[in-house]
Amino acid sequence: MRKILIAGNWKMFKTRAEAKEFLQTFLPELEETAEDRGVILCPTFTALGTMSKNLHGSRVRLGAQNVHWELSGAYTGEVSGPMLAELGVSYVIIGHSERRQYFGETDETVNLRLKAAQEYGLTPILCVGETKAQRDAGETEAIISAQLTQDLVDVDQSNLVIAYEPIWAIGTGDTCDAQEANRVIGVIRSQLTNPDVSIQYGGSVKPDNIDEIMAQSEIDGALVGGASLEPASFARIVNYQ
Ligand code: G3P
Repeated sequence: MRKILIAGNWKMFKTRAEAKEFLQTFLPELEETAEDRGVILCPTFTALGTMSKNLHGSRVRLGAQNVHWELSGAYTGEVSGPMLAELGVSYVIIGHSERRQYFGETDETVNLRLKAAQEYGLTPILCVGETKAQRDAGETEAIISAQLTQDLVDVDQSNLVIAYEPIWAIGTGDTCDAQEANRVIGVIRSQLTNPDVSIQYGGSVKPDNIDEIMAQSEIDGALVGGASLEPASFARIVNYQ
């Protein structure tokens, strides 16, 4: 069965102290009526340990923002699956457009990271999406299809979450129209072998558009950047109507 999953991607924001302070306000605001919704927070690597301790006993799960495909080795600046699992991490974002754009992430390395995450017991959140120029050129479906085809080679679709993040909607306030996001997510679903994969929408999700986004039949959750940094705002998103 498809699960509702709302995740906050904190990118390179929040020290350990700030992360702890966030939880003190955020956790009491989680409504019990929304208990069937999975809630995930993905802080920086440095805040994972503190978050893990402070999330103990709560229903919020911990996610990381990247993982290397080797168990260990001479890979300066990288972190492996067992290192994350040891800290209580359950999910890991892979292939975010910021990694693809600024850090040389390719579909080949995305594929390696996806397989490694699964091998070490983590659930990957694979991000796919098109640029504005690609959308304007009518290439949205082709771009996403190519990403999925390459990224998902030998990936187990029974332990996978996908996030559709149109790059032009990230951090711009320019949210993708909810019906259009629903349509593209339907296209993504049609390319999967497992119909139960949860597919999130990401890109300028805010308290004032989450209700409409979550009312769409194909959308199973959200991957939230900026609006997940403030406790009341993220609580409102998680407690959507
Ligand atoms: O991964 C979440 C993201 O890229 C969307 O960011 O700030 O537009 O919600 P934002």
